[in-house]
Amino acid sequence: MIARVVSATWRLSSHFKGPRLRTTSHVSLPTFGRSLSNVFEPLPKQELVTKFKSRLRGRQFLPGSSGSDFPEFLGEPTDSFPLGIAVKNPNGSSLADLTAKCMEFAEETFSRSPAILFRGLPAKSAEDFSVIAGAIPYKTAAYGGIGHRSQVDKAAGTYTASERPPNYTIELHNELAYSENFPSKVYLFCVKEPADGCGGETPIMKNNDLQSRLDPDIIRKLDEKHIKYERYMPSTRHRNYISWQDGFMTNDRKEVEDIAKQQGNDIHWDENGDLYLSLIRPAFIPHPVTGEKYWFNLVTGHHNSCVDSMPTFNDTDILDGKWPYHSYYGDGSEIEPQVIQHIRAQSWACAVGFKWKCGDLLVIDNVAAQHGRIGFSGERKMLAYLTA
Ligand SMILES: [Fe+2]
Repeated sequence: MIARVVSATWRLSSHFKGPRLRTTSHVSLPTFGRSLSNVFEPLPKQELVTKFKSRLRGRQFLPGSSGSDFPEFLGEPTDSFPLGIAVKNPNGSSLADLTAKCMEFAEETFSRSPAILFRGLPAKSAEDFSVIAGAIPYKTAAYGGIGHRSQVDKAAGTYTASERPPNYTIELHNELAYSENFPSKVYLFCVKEPADGCGGETPIMKNNDLQSRLDPDIIRKLDEKHIKYERYMPSTRHRNYISWQDGFMTNDRKEVEDIAKQQGNDIHWDENGDLYLSLIRPAFIPHPVTGEKYWFNLVTGHHNSCVDSMPTFNDTDILDGKWPYHSYYGDGSEIEPQVIQHIRAQSWACAVGFKWKCGDLLVIDNVAAQHGRIGFSGERKMLAYLTA
């Protein structure tokens, strides 16, 4: 029934020249002129449902999972989240041309779904993802974050999605939400999908859903006080800390300072050449396109309790209070553990996972939706790209 409704939105309107939006009571999708209407088709939800549900409550190496308020399993995708789109190529268009059409489609459709999964692009490899990145008509965003990742293609601006230990579950987050220079869109590309039952989903969650579930007192306090983010990045990777060279992907201190300043950081180097960063950011921001106020921060993902849950830090002493990163209220006071736990549990309660397939491209509105990674076993390879 729902598939029929979605198909109906796709019919060509003969007198219509450019892209526009139609609405239905179920899922509304853009209707395009003839040039695009034969390229995109709805992907049935069943194509995205995983065979096995990944466990959340009690999961090892997932921050906060021992709490009784945690959902037991990761949720299933809905009809529009992520919005699955099958890409057809009846005219044998190039990958770059198809990518440009996908971006046009995403721009029109973000107001209906902040995460769109394109399946069927003629792309499988890291080289193909470089072509995709090159065809995306937005400015590339620099990284310089707390994640462990490497450049795949410096010219194209593509990265590995994450090199954190596979069994660690990366919390839901808005990419670089602690930066004034955050990316508006995140692109994830699947080179090797995880096997059934091995975890490795990319959980996604709408910030609007989370806002509606959070304790209003917590929202009010964070909105008033803002959030302070601190980072410590030694000059060489040691004791499992990520070095500033790896984090910013350069050995040039001046380049690091430029990126860190663009992010809004106060910067301090010590006599060993170690780097300390600090900045205060609001917990909510207006959406750059709609102006709507969104929860947009890394209060949990930047909290030092994440580090405690990391397998690589199990046996690592934290000397002199130098956590790799930590979040506080904007006045520098500690955020209560129960507040962090509440936000984590409610975030995961809103999250859904879906089945990846090699060649899939997920486009995320980074202000409206969060993403993460379920810990996994076996092979899995994802690449990432960020733009304004
Ligand atoms: Fe991320």
